[in-house]
Amino acid sequence: MINIGLIGCGRISKNHFEAIAALPDAVCVSCCDIIASRAREAAAMFKIPDWTADYRKILNNSGIDLISVCTPSGLHPVHGIQAAEAGKHVLTEKPMACRLNDADKLIKACDRAGVKLFVVLQNRLNPSIQLVRQAFEAGRFGRIYMIVSNVFWSRPQEYFDLAPWRGTIALDGGAFMNQASHYVDMVQWFGGPFKEVKALTSTLARQIEAEDTGSAVIRFQNGAIGNINVTVLTYPSNLEGSITILGEKGTVRIGGTSMNKIEHWEFADEQPYDKELGHYNTKPHSVYGFGHSGYYRNVIDCLAGLAAALSDGTEGRKSLSLLEQIHRREIRQAVPQLLRKTFQEGG
Ligand SMILES: NC(=O)c1ccc[n+]([C@@H]2O[C@H](COP(=O)([O-])OP(=O)(O)OC[C@H]3O[C@@H](n4cnc5c(N)ncnc54)[C@H](O)[C@@H]3O)[C@@H](O)[C@H]2O)c1
Repeated sequence: MINIGLIGCGRISKNHFEAIAALPDAVCVSCCDIIASRAREAAAMFKIPDWTADYRKILNNSGIDLISVCTPSGLHPVHGIQAAEAGKHVLTEKPMACRLNDADKLIKACDRAGVKLFVVLQNRLNPSIQLVRQAFEAGRFGRIYMIVSNVFWSRPQEYFDLAPWRGTIALDGGAFMNQASHYVDMVQWFGGPFKEVKALTSTLARQIEAEDTGSAVIRFQNGAIGNINVTVLTYPSNLEGSITILGEKGTVRIGGTSMNKIEHWEFADEQPYDKELGHYNTKPHSVYGFGHSGYYRNVIDCLAGLAAALSDGTEGRKSLSLLEQIHRREIRQAVPQLLRKTFQEGG
């Protein structure tokens, strides 16, 4: 039995509590949030025996094997490093950090302490994505020419006003790093190491520090071109979360709201599973999908020595490295509201 402590009882924590509760060989024994009422309510709702507003209590609990870090993104390294130094395995939500340098410190701390580090990239487990990965690994695409990902989501100002960390550069990172991070990961998972990155980003409509809209172009080391388009300004609701892979002998487009639906599937060769594509489509209630359950299954199997980690620190670092290049190469246009109004009025 793996005993889990969780820090950060906000929106995504529910997916963690539910995933853990469904496992016969893991249990959440304590949860923590600086907003004490959130920890108390989570404990009541998910029948967790202990809750606290003081993370040190979780760190000092010798019965805890693994700490799940669900705090704002920029705090993942701090909380993860403290967990590792307390001798706990670390599972962190995506992105593992907002800066590569901090991610590396977390990886090093886990290595030093001899504990495992897991980065939640649950969309890799979508049945539709697993199928396209199977086709990719079997070489069905031939040479990859182009990978395009569109993240046309809707996040009103009220969403950003939910918590002070949202939309900040230090703790949230912006639309690419927060809303599009699974898509950035997916593009690099299929494209491989990148060679060159260019990006345009803008803060067009939300009152936030980081970008709400952007487009990045990537040249991969294998010559393929990647393109990621992201906005949180889609009217009136989420429209698309897709990836299209165009290869020499195959074209696939996985869409839906979170890469959950096969929209186009065409290969030069044929495989029996090509006739059963409908089985691989899912209808998640939210863009978070169903992946946390499968993700935790792998984590527990990995801790038991029965499986390799689906995404460890090294794997989580790859998309962060691309994200850092997107932001480093960006031509940023953040026009303050007042100036924008003056421009619009012809001033
Ligand atoms: N895997 C996914 O698809 C997915 C989806 C949503 C969010 N996330 C990630 O999960 C993380 C949290 O996102 P969220 O939407 O749940 O945010 P949230 O603001 O709803 O929750 C964060 C919680 O952390 C708590 N917190 C902050 N500092 C703390 C501290 N020092 N000690 C204890 N608690 C602290 C806050 O009070 C809050 O309750 C982010 O990194 C986000 O990118 C991942």
